[in-house]
Amino acid sequence: MDICALGEKPPLGEVPDRMHVFCVRQDRFGAPRDAWQREIIDVPEIAEDEVLVYNMATGINYNNVWAALGYPIDVIAVRQKQGEPEDFHAGGSDCSGIVWKVGPAVTNVKPGDEVVVHSGWWPADDPWVLSGRDPMLAETTRIWGYQTNYGSYCQFAKAQAHQCQPKPKHLSWEEAGCYLLCASTAYRMLMGWSPNIVEEGDVVLVWGAAGGLGSYAMQITQAMGGRAVAVVSDDSKRQFCLDNGAVGVINRKDFDHWGPMPDTSSPEYGAWVKGARAFGKAIWEAVGERVSPRIVFEHPGESTLPTSGFVVATGGMVVICAGTTGYNITMDLRYHWMRQKRLQGSHLSNDEQAAAVNQLMIDRRIDPCLSQTFTFDEIGHAHQLMHDNAHASGNMACLVNATEPGMGRSA
Ligand SMILES: NC(=O)c1ccc[n+]([C@@H]2O[C@H](COP(=O)([O-])OP(=O)(O)OC[C@H]3O[C@@H](n4cnc5c(N)ncnc54)[C@H](OP(=O)(O)O)[C@@H]3O)[C@@H](O)[C@H]2O)c1
Repeated sequence: MDICALGEKPPLGEVPDRMHVFCVRQDRFGAPRDAWQREIIDVPEIAEDEVLVYNMATGINYNNVWAALGYPIDVIAVRQKQGEPEDFHAGGSDCSGIVWKVGPAVTNVKPGDEVVVHSGWWPADDPWVLSGRDPMLAETTRIWGYQTNYGSYCQFAKAQAHQCQPKPKHLSWEEAGCYLLCASTAYRMLMGWSPNIVEEGDVVLVWGAAGGLGSYAMQITQAMGGRAVAVVSDDSKRQFCLDNGAVGVINRKDFDHWGPMPDTSSPEYGAWVKGARAFGKAIWEAVGERVSPRIVFEHPGESTLPTSGFVVATGGMVVICAGTTGYNITMDLRYHWMRQKRLQGSHLSNDEQAAAVNQLMIDRRIDPCLSQTFTFDEIGHAHQLMHDNAHASGNMACLVNATEPGMGRSA
């Protein structure tokens, strides 16, 4: 078979030669709405430990906003330097679908299984991985559908079998396709860095609380018995946060001390400290008592990190997985060492963490917070909304082989 239309199913196990995808090429790096274009490409071969998933729906993630921009790295050029021939990036890091074909060494899933795919990708023969240690710390680990090709904007997505988790039966394809990347990242950030994990009563400050990561950070905090304080930039997002586990909400537009911390000997430093203290007081007011965050859930980076480091409790942790506003961070080291605080980088999740957060989803203790469902042809548009911070609260999805919203629920 040469190719099938979106939504058309070949016999289970049979795969056409070519498929529909959304991809980026180097000569159109730039605004995501134009960089992402629909194309037809060959379906890739799979390795013995890989699967092809008949992709029903995909989530939209910020990593492929970066891929569209070609910034901070050109993912195509990086792969070509590593010997991969493709001159396109058929990305996408969140997928729900049906396992269609498996390599000979695959034992954990079989054709016909309904799955969601997490985006931790690592070579099975990496000595670090073989040693049984956390594969997310292996030098060769990549993010599927960002640093690897043939991700979830492909009609048939190519993944390593260990990335597959059971699809929650109560969710539609688009609900199931929109959550695992952000949810698993949030889970590792909040539960992966012992002893700074969420415990009963802990206050957790969540930046970008109405965003993809934030929506799960609030819910996981609540599920673990913690108290999430949400930060947003618009009062219209307040109710969303309260509905998804926050005990209080702060509007960051009520403060103006953002950006790099001024030199501690400069006159501007006094004004900065005043702003940071007022923000700390707003956290206490949101909690209803004078308790500082034991964990600060960070991703904006440059503009917020000085404040995060200032307000986190003695012995607490600022855990960060991105630098959306910039990478040059400043902080007042005096508070950092005297109060024995921790600054922890975190990136995606390993299989156990993906399984743990997927179980929370299966048990209905967290919700995907699907905000909006788009068609396959709107993949570029959805990325543009995210780039412009103009997307609705929660997480977006695009249908791939699912022909209409609401399909796929079986419980
Ligand atoms: N390393 C990893 O494993 C990993 C995984 C997932 C995502 N990420 C990264 O994490 C970042 C966020 O991803 P996401 O999916 O949550 O994106 P998102 O849905 O766009 O949410 C990000 C939120 O950040 C907030 N924000 C924007 N500018 C801000 C600023 N100047 N100061 C404070 N907050 C600001 C916005 O909320 P308000 O305007 O309401 O404040 C926005 O809702 C991206 O850079 C993404 O690439 C990394």
